[in-house]
Amino acid sequence: MPFINFETAVSLLKKGEIVAFPTETVYGLGAIATNNEAILKIYKKKQRPTFNPLILHTSTIEQAQKYGKFNDLALQLAKYFWPGPLTLIVPKVENADIPHSATAGLSTIAIRFPDHEQAQKLITAVGLPLVAPSANPSGRLSPTCASHVVKLFNNTVHTLNQPNSTIIGLESTIIDCTQDQPIILRYGAITEDLVEKQLGICPFLTNNFSKIKAPGMLLRHYAPQLPLYINKQKPIANQAFITFGNPVFSKLPTAAKIFPLSPKENIEEAATNLFKVLHQIESSPKQFTSIGVMPIPKVGLGKAINDRLNRGAAK
Ligand code: TXA
Ligand code: MG
Repeated sequence: MPFINFETAVSLLKKGEIVAFPTETVYGLGAIATNNEAILKIYKKKQRPTFNPLILHTSTIEQAQKYGKFNDLALQLAKYFWPGPLTLIVPKVENADIPHSATAGLSTIAIRFPDHEQAQKLITAVGLPLVAPSANPSGRLSPTCASHVVKLFNNTVHTLNQPNSTIIGLESTIIDCTQDQPIILRYGAITEDLVEKQLGICPFLTNNFSKIKAPGMLLRHYAPQLPLYINKQKPIANQAFITFGNPVFSKLPTAAKIFPLSPKENIEEAATNLFKVLHQIESSPKQFTSIGVMPIPKVGLGKAINDRLNRGAAK
């Protein structure tokens, strides 16, 4: 299935097909949010368990409020951080025109207003929100460019081509806003420090995903196909070794290769490059038997990077 242009993407979506499109975080696999059959195609294509709900993507705050009930907290967060890499969990409007399949039958809904021109134009042109998980088969690495999507799905997904599109390279921060206290369910570019600075409230962070209602967080995620070892200081033989900063290794072990995330120790650059580098390594799996990663500072976006790496390394 070839890359498609914008007009074709709009017409396919309107016909009830699914289309991969860029956002500022990662590529999404979209369907019109009111179309049950199209939504089921997403679950099937991704082999995603149907208990794992999708994120609704809107192109205005007002459109989001047709589907979710925003309390003061949610509204403030939306006003400060939208459009942007932030997903809000809010109670679903009872009679909202959205099938159960999108929200996996939950009484809450995940909503985000992406900060990406093509994504916004697509939602506006279609005239309805799009539900979109990341455009990867469940459990695999998230895609940060069109060619990752094509590779992950063996060229079987209509993909809106947008060179050099995703900017952040990690999925959105998810904040549960169903109470007055914000709870971060997934780390991303909107960090707890940014939230505290804007709202004066320090969000709770949760590592205990069994206690909260984020079904997708229970799964092993973001997994490369080779075994992944984190917080390593130096490479071993036959290893793809991901570095942060510019460490010097006097002699590399046999068949080891260095993949720098950010030679200048810039955490944003490292985030942008994380999935890109992992995809690069996956493209030459026979060359390596494992992946090693240096410690990445747990500051700012570093928390999100460490979160994705921890999940990828989980057995
Ligand atoms: O950056 C992103 O968020 C990307 C782009 C495409 O927008 N999308 C993305 O979607 O990462 P996905 O499906 O890969 O991750 C959505 C996460 C899942 O872990 C899901 O369980 C959680 O959001 N989620 C969805 N609805 C929820 C709800 N009502 N309550 C709690 N978690 C929810
Ligand atoms: Mg995902």
